[in-house]
Amino acid sequence: MSRLLPEAAVSLARSRAAVDAYDVDGAMPRAELLRRAADKHGLVCVISEAVDQELLDHCPSLRVVSNVAVGYNNVDVAACTRRGVVVTNTPDVLTDTTADFAWALLMATARRLAEADRYVREGRFKQWEYMLLLGGDIHGKTLGVVGFGRIGRAMARRALGFGMRVLYQDAVAADPPTERDLHATRVDLATLLRESDFVTLHTPLIPETRHLINGRSLATMKPTAYLINAARGPVVDEAALVEALKTHRIAGAGLDVFEDEPAVHPGLIRLPNVVLAPHIGSGSHETRLRMATLAVENCLAVLEGKTPPTPVNPEVLTRR
Ligand code: 8YV
Repeated sequence: MSRLLPEAAVSLARSRAAVDAYDVDGAMPRAELLRRAADKHGLVCVISEAVDQELLDHCPSLRVVSNVAVGYNNVDVAACTRRGVVVTNTPDVLTDTTADFAWALLMATARRLAEADRYVREGRFKQWEYMLLLGGDIHGKTLGVVGFGRIGRAMARRALGFGMRVLYQDAVAADPPTERDLHATRVDLATLLRESDFVTLHTPLIPETRHLINGRSLATMKPTAYLINAARGPVVDEAALVEALKTHRIAGAGLDVFEDEPAVHPGLIRLPNVVLAPHIGSGSHETRLRMATLAVENCLAVLEGKTPPTPVNPEVLTRR
């Protein structure tokens, strides 16, 4: 286990396997990870660990890579599949928690909550002012959801309570009952960007979605619109976003993820109209425990010759 995970999940692992667990809350240095994983059969890891050809070459006994995340862009799944290594992730258990946080970012961005907090803390609240820190309304506006999977749909569900119109873009159309229940209409990306007051990103990071939001797409958004990203940083061209925010091409952005995490573009740090968070979308006590537990269950299942609950490359299982 490459990360410090909740004790209950570590205990579950220890009850059924010999465990080598990192006990520092931070990233295990790469060289140490390669050394400690070298003779292991299972690896429980997070998205900041690259599971690539180099790691696989170091770990000839590896049978399962259990990512404690729903996204798995850190894992070379094709290379794992070629070697017969099962890859698993942690879908479902974090859907609503991540949507809660993306929604919080959306609200904080539109209503300038971080700026307001700084204003009060800095002792600048000397008198009530009529035009102070005015933001944009949320209720009744148009929400554009890019990527209509589990988390994207959970955002649409939240939008119902705010009386919003929901547009979504996805390679695959949702079934009609889902569209009806969520009052969601599928449009192309150009329409979504042009018509939405809030654009919220929920796509996986794959070659097709890298810099999906770039200078050209930002230029087609409303100047009053907000961009929310709680998916993956590289989906947005961060330099282009800084430019769009600086020139008020769009009104603001709420970001939980960054192009080169944990580095943040210095331009973003200087801008008042962005709300920044250190990739904590799934970070509730309950959900982080659920994710770690599911990851451990996935890992143990493979080691015990059983079918893991949430495999990413199930074809490896049938080959065994
Ligand atoms: C994780 C995430 O906290 O699940 C994902 O894809 O990005 C977050 O929920 C993080 O990736 C840890 O691996």
